[in-house]
Amino acid sequence: MTILYPDLQSSVAATAGVYAPQQDSQLLIEAMTLTGAVTGRRVADVCTGSGVIAIAAAQLGARSVTAFDICPKAVQCATGNAADAGVGVDARLGTWGDALEAGPFDVVVSNPPYVPTSPDAHLEEIPADVGPATAWNAGVDGRQVLNPLCDSAADLLTGSGTMLIVQSEFSDTEQSLRRLRSAGLDAEVILSQLIPFGPVMTARAAWMERIGMLPVGRREEEIVVIQAEKR
Ligand SMILES: C[S@@+](CC[C@H](N)C(=O)[O-])C[C@H]1O[C@@H](n2cnc3c(N)ncnc32)[C@H](O)[C@@H]1O
Repeated sequence: MTILYPDLQSSVAATAGVYAPQQDSQLLIEAMTLTGAVTGRRVADVCTGSGVIAIAAAQLGARSVTAFDICPKAVQCATGNAADAGVGVDARLGTWGDALEAGPFDVVVSNPPYVPTSPDAHLEEIPADVGPATAWNAGVDGRQVLNPLCDSAADLLTGSGTMLIVQSEFSDTEQSLRRLRSAGLDAEVILSQLIPFGPVMTARAAWMERIGMLPVGRREEEIVVIQAEKR
């Protein structure tokens, strides 16, 4: 069941070329709110985009927030949004690997790219205002960033640390749970939401049907938040 919280993302805007907060961003903010996981803790937001998750973490009382993104425009956008919101977020250019070097953190939150990507994805016509392809493209199985994030969870986190990740069922929720558990964490889905396909999934639906990833005619996906706790 999904519990809806006030729309914390509404005041955070994305500049051109940066992923605008969407339902997955909101679901991750709801998970932070519901669990109370970030309050008083050192938080890393990996794949920060506009900084919406990092800013929400700071607003929820995180002790410190460090945010990482591979896109310089996103880092600039997140820095500006945090200043506008009057909260402290240290936004840096970097990947999960840079978070690993800067860590460990008490809490790692992430809304990574997780959309399965066809070899012909470069031919798709997707409206520019949806953001850059690097915000969602994640290899044929959608796990290009999810795999290293899950596999390095134990090293990213302090003892008793928490990871919160949002992803789609189409990037294999069970695989994330398995990888996190193999890394020695307790992991479970704590929130889920069924949403209609947006422009990217719509553009990919025929390919996903062809390779058997999507039942023919289905045009909605379940997004989930996984909570993983380091023992
Ligand atoms: C789906 S967007 C999420 C943005 C924001 N956290 C939100 O929830 O609205 C994914 C972001 O991850 C960034 N990204 C892609 N690959 C990355 C990587 N390997 N390491 C860090 N950031 C990455 C993209 O530039 C993009 O800003």
